[in-house]
Amino acid sequence: MSNELIYVRFLQYSVLALTVVLFWGISLAKRGRLDKHRKVMTGVVAITMVAVVGLLISIFGMGCDYRHNLKASQAIINCGPADMGTRLTIHRCFSSPLFVALCVTTWAGYAKYPRVHRIGARFSVLFWLGTLTTAWLFF
Ligand code: HEM
Repeated sequence: MSNELIYVRFLQYSVLALTVVLFWGISLAKRGRLDKHRKVMTGVVAITMVAVVGLLISIFGMGCDYRHNLKASQAIINCGPADMGTRLTIHRCFSSPLFVALCVTTWAGYAKYPRVHRIGARFSVLFWLGTLTTAWLFF
């Protein structure tokens, strides 16, 4: 098992688990429990950022090459384009905007811009689910 595959497997399972926490945090906001919502979401966002930093360190610090060292045949579900480069590009179409959406949503939550926060939350959920789905189908 390559280093790239080990990290991708770790991310697949941890993001799946974090998705449960994300929706719990949203349900807290819907039920008006905003203090707990803030705490839970701060945790979700912090863990997500640690994963992003880990990914960047693996690429730029440790020389991991996901494009060439991940094989479609090793994917758990393996549904999608045959070419791993295309799979990564599609996946990044969700994960990169997710990063931006989460930053904006978090900022608006702390800065008390409820409208921006709610719009950001919708985009965050959309891109989160896209990131999760493509990760599980492709890798
Ligand atoms: C991490 C820092 C966060 C803070 C400090 C925060 C704070 C808040 C606050 C103060 C509200 C009430 C104001 C309002 O109605 O908009 C709220 C509501 C809400 N938040 Fe957050 N939030 C955070 C992250 C998130 C994230 C990451 C999401 C989703 C991806 C999210 C989803 C929501 C939703 C859907 C509501 C509206 C609930 C309703 O319909 O009443 N929040 N949040």
